[in-house]
Amino acid sequence: MTRFSDRVAFLTGVASGVGRSTAIRLAREGASVFGVDIDEQGMDETRSTIAGSDGSMTTKVVDVADVDQIKTAVADCVTRFGGIDIVGNIAGIAKQHHVADVSEAEWDLLNAVNLKGPFFIAQATMPHLIERSGTLINIASNAGLMGQAYTVPYCATKGGIVNLTRALAMEFVKTGVRVNAIAPGGIDTPLVHNFELAEDIDFNLMQNHIGYRTPSSPDQIAAFFAFLASDEAANIHGSILSADGGLTAA
Ligand SMILES: NC(=O)c1ccc[n+]([C@@H]2O[C@H](COP(=O)([O-])OP(=O)(O)OC[C@H]3O[C@@H](n4cnc5c(N)ncnc54)[C@H](O)[C@@H]3O)[C@@H](O)[C@H]2O)c1
Repeated sequence: MTRFSDRVAFLTGVASGVGRSTAIRLAREGASVFGVDIDEQGMDETRSTIAGSDGSMTTKVVDVADVDQIKTAVADCVTRFGGIDIVGNIAGIAKQHHVADVSEAEWDLLNAVNLKGPFFIAQATMPHLIERSGTLINIASNAGLMGQAYTVPYCATKGGIVNLTRALAMEFVKTGVRVNAIAPGGIDTPLVHNFELAEDIDFNLMQNHIGYRTPSSPDQIAAFFAFLASDEAANIHGSILSADGGLTAA
């Protein structure tokens, strides 16, 4: 398939998990991918995988919490490829903790990576997306749609992304740009593998966000992303689309 052969994709979080799978998927379908992440080695691994299947990805080490780095990366992408058609705000961090244990630094970091970064990437890329009637996709979470114990700051950032998506969709509704979010449930990635659960948590409180089905694979979320970024999704705008095995259906 070459749904994206004439498209440029600016993706964050391409060193791991969903971002890596999405970069691979879009490149395989012909996109010119400009990938950013703080993890250079992880990006190298993703780039090698893509190169092994005839695609290509340009990478740049970027901390999405740093607005100057975002602006430089967007400018570099436009210089390299001439424009931007697809933006994926995929990079994210999570932490489990009791409310009482959350430090100001942890709160600030979660907000900077999960919410501030996506906003300023939207701000920096929007003129380019308008020029090409492109599309912006934010990776939200079931945690932005439901209350989840022991991840209160993470939930707040993901709730923020949900309404950031809707508000952007409204501000740019008269352009050709489409803005949507995918809200996955659990995905089998390092983000969840690295969760450190406090010993004294009440597991009863967690059943509603563990759900009943197995986690998604990052490739499944990437496939959904590719559909949403494609012309086949031309009428989908301002939507928060769950991919969570029924987690938020109850
Ligand atoms: N894994 C899950 O269960 C799950 C569920 C719902 C939503 N999500 C969301 O999916 C997205 C992708 O997560 P994942 O599961 O693939 O995790 P992951 O840890 O595998 O990948 C996250 C990537 O973001 C990068 N990153 C972290 N901080 C960064 C920063 N400051 N600047 C640039 N890059 C940075 C990491 O280096 C990593 O490559 C996140 O937004 C996450 O919140 C994940």
